[in-house]
Amino acid sequence: MDKKLSTEAYKGVRDFYPEDMAIQSYIFNSWQKTAELFGFERYEASILEPADLYKSKGTANEEIVTEQTYSFIDRGEREVTLRPEMTPTVARMVAGRQRTLRFPLRWYSIPNLFRYERPQRGRLREHWQLNCDIFGADDYIADVEIISLACQILIDFGATPDMFEVKINNRSDMSTYYDSIGIKDVSKQTKITRLNDRFRKISSEEYLSELENILGDRQIAEVVQSKVSTSVNPVDNEVISGLKALGITNVKIDYSLARGFDYYTDTIFEIFDISGENNRSLLGGGRYSNLTSMFTDKKISGTGFGMGDVTMKDFLFTHKLIPSSIQNTTAKVVIIPTDEKLNLEATMVAQAIRKRGISVSTDIGTKKIGKKIAEAVDRGITYSIVVGTDEINSSKFTLKNLVLSTEIKGNIHDILTYLIANQ
Ligand code: HAM
Repeated sequence: MDKKLSTEAYKGVRDFYPEDMAIQSYIFNSWQKTAELFGFERYEASILEPADLYKSKGTANEEIVTEQTYSFIDRGEREVTLRPEMTPTVARMVAGRQRTLRFPLRWYSIPNLFRYERPQRGRLREHWQLNCDIFGADDYIADVEIISLACQILIDFGATPDMFEVKINNRSDMSTYYDSIGIKDVSKQTKITRLNDRFRKISSEEYLSELENILGDRQIAEVVQSKVSTSVNPVDNEVISGLKALGITNVKIDYSLARGFDYYTDTIFEIFDISGENNRSLLGGGRYSNLTSMFTDKKISGTGFGMGDVTMKDFLFTHKLIPSSIQNTTAKVVIIPTDEKLNLEATMVAQAIRKRGISVSTDIGTKKIGKKIAEAVDRGITYSIVVGTDEINSSKFTLKNLVLSTEIKGNIHDILTYLIANQ
């Protein structure tokens, strides 16, 4: 006998059955609504990019490029990568039209991204990520607005500020600090930033010993460790003050916050669920002042974030923020023929109603009528019309309201009038 193929999806990627898709659409619709409320315009691009886009100095994230990309050689011997993030793509697109675009831009997208990771809670090999970025606005207020948008997205799902926390740091302030304690070598600073990205994932002993390896000095390593362990709320931080003026106060400076990508230059931030159930960040982002430099001499700065659907869904479930009314059913009316011979007639009745913009399904399965009605109720369909020979001969139908157990009778015109009036 043939060996059958597995019905499992490829490890770490996602199948969305209709009930999963209903939640996914709910999340995407809410993302779209809030992004557009802030005046963001939507863009898209292909999943495929030339591999060089991620290898270029300035965009690289060592871990992603060397261990996490899905890359292959195409039939023309070109190395191609399934996008692991959207930021290099959008930088490419902005640089490509820099002469005609009207800056500052506010752009958003909801791409799916691929990273070869070990699947675990909050981390998969495929995820969708809302990306919101402002290009061509150097003032810190753009960072403030980006962070306030991120917070508003959570609020619009029904979250309250006590459910999450914004952590902020600043790459250039950290660099000034390293300079001030004698760590002037930029490559050492980059190594510390990369190590800091793992600060929460490794023990403090391991952190200290790796730091000592980078610096070759135990004492300085201890000084850096103590700085990085600090989480403070200084009054003189302009981004924090700006957020406060907008009423956002669940914000902290965290000197260990590093962000995985080398391209961030100034403010960086992440938002965390503080319930204790979800350790992964809900979103992360920051300012990158010259990501377009690999395409053009013109410097265009960007600031933005990426917010993942996996962590978003975990957050919504943890805080019971998924409305119970979410349904995968789209049909408002189901037409049920009493006999297989009337399947075509049932379909014609359905067509007549659809012409008026009302969504209709037909149940031409072979189950008994009672069972079909029960299933329609389960699915959340509001109305049923049973089509038998009597109905066809008399052109009179009964529209049953399955929720209220009421009914009306009439010809198709009466039924349509009723349905339109009761949409
Ligand atoms: P990132 O920190 O790599 O940033 O990802 C941002 C968010 O995407 C994370 O906080 C998480 O919600 C989600 N995410 C990332 N990787 C996975 C995964 N393997 N499985 C599930 N969810 C994941 C970036 O990608 C930057 N390009 C964001 C950005 C936009 N910065 C500026 N603009």
